[in-house]
Amino acid sequence: METWEAIRSRRNVRSFTDQQIPDDHLDEILEAGRRAPSALNWQPWDFVVVDARESLTELAKVAPGAGYVAGAAAAVAVVAAPVEPGDDGRLRRLYFDLGQATMSMMLAAAGLRIGSGHAGVDDQDLARKVLGLPADKFCPFLVAFGYPADRTLQLIRRPQRRPLNEVVHRGHW
Ligand SMILES: Cc1cc2nc3c(=O)[nH]c(=O)nc-3n(C[C@H](O)[C@H](O)[C@H](O)COP(=O)(O)O)c2cc1C
Repeated sequence: METWEAIRSRRNVRSFTDQQIPDDHLDEILEAGRRAPSALNWQPWDFVVVDARESLTELAKVAPGAGYVAGAAAAVAVVAAPVEPGDDGRLRRLYFDLGQATMSMMLAAAGLRIGSGHAGVDDQDLARKVLGLPADKFCPFLVAFGYPADRTLQLIRRPQRRPLNEVVHRGHW
């Protein structure tokens, strides 16, 4: 799938078939995350890839919105070092850059017709236990991957988005 088609086909997928993701496709998705841009190229991310069913089932308990991770073919835990309290600039950069890495992975997945979905993490202790994270890291969110069980990824002609002419201001506000 071309990039423009992948952009228009991606949607949050929350139910997956049992089909495994081939290793080379998972590697392509991770490579897309690794190549993401970041402030001063600090690359604040680590990615923990999980495909064991029991681990996915446990990860699904980290937040009320993460339940569907249990049925994913794999999940990538996006991991970083916490920011010192009060360092708002660094915090903004951290989340911006983690978001860029996440979106790169999601688009790479869509290009392979692999569905993806975000899940925020509330229970850091549980995430730390399942993922074996060192004490100086945390996991702000998970990205679930797999083949959509409801319908394959295809062009979304009418996305649920604010209209372009409302969002875009040309020349001035
Ligand atoms: C930072 C962030 C966190 C999100 N967390 C969750 C989540 O915990 N559970 C969930 O089901 N969806 C989550 N989503 C998915 C959004 O609800 C979804 O992207 C949005 O509704 C637009 O739908 P679409 O991605 O299908 O276009 C999250 C999205 C973002 C960007």
